[in-house]
Amino acid sequence: MKKQGIVAGNWKMHKSPVEGANFITTFINLMLKIENVEVIFCPPFSALFNIDGVLKDSPYKLGAQNCHWEKEGAFTGEISVKMLADCGVDYVILGHSERRHVFNEPDDWINKKVKAVLAGGLKPILCIGETLDQRSNKETKNILFHQLKNGLMDVSDFADVIIAYEPVWAIGTGETANKEQVSEAHGWVRDILGEFYSQEIAQRTPLLYGGSVKPVNAEELFEIQDVDGFLIGGASLKIEPFKEIILTVKNKLKD
Ligand code: PGA
Repeated sequence: MKKQGIVAGNWKMHKSPVEGANFITTFINLMLKIENVEVIFCPPFSALFNIDGVLKDSPYKLGAQNCHWEKEGAFTGEISVKMLADCGVDYVILGHSERRHVFNEPDDWINKKVKAVLAGGLKPILCIGETLDQRSNKETKNILFHQLKNGLMDVSDFADVIIAYEPVWAIGTGETANKEQVSEAHGWVRDILGEFYSQEIAQRTPLLYGGSVKPVNAEELFEIQDVDGFLIGGASLKIEPFKEIILTVKNKLKD
């Protein structure tokens, strides 16, 4: 299956609506020819609507960092898929390790969110990954198996599903998983998807890597056969490193 090229920037809780819109305007003015790379900006909720106005006629896409599965109701502090769609959102990051480990989101919530996002016509970026203890105890494959099985329960249409493998110990730590670790984990994800669904789904579902991706390691990581792109935190907050990573992916796709 042909390698895909997706680069998503997860801004987490950074940038005001004005700062975000200025950042995107500067990015658009670089006039990058991103061709076959899908570039997604995931700002905080408060900046989505503003940024959509700036992104509209550009090749860039808008993503959110979370959502609730219900359409509306008494869910203080939450946001629905429709509300995100109304802000121009195409993608939603779900099950990020900070949601799982800081906010204790269980797999069954994440599963409800994946289904709600798909039902709402948006595309989920489902994050999975092991902690350092789990890796040390050789539980990584088992963790990925359960997070995929539970997160994707009753999902039958895979056309819009993206998986992001993000080892928890590599997120925001400066520590990147090495080539062998990423290659092995992405191979397991394809095997697990093949086991649950079909080889066709396993091969065509885009697999992103996330965890301290930077310009210096992007090329080496994108050379890994089963890496179709990146989910990037820290390095997506500044123009230069984010641009460099996108160009690396674009150039590698041409090789
Ligand atoms: P990082 O974050 O690139 O800062 O490690 C990645 C993520 O949380 O998605």
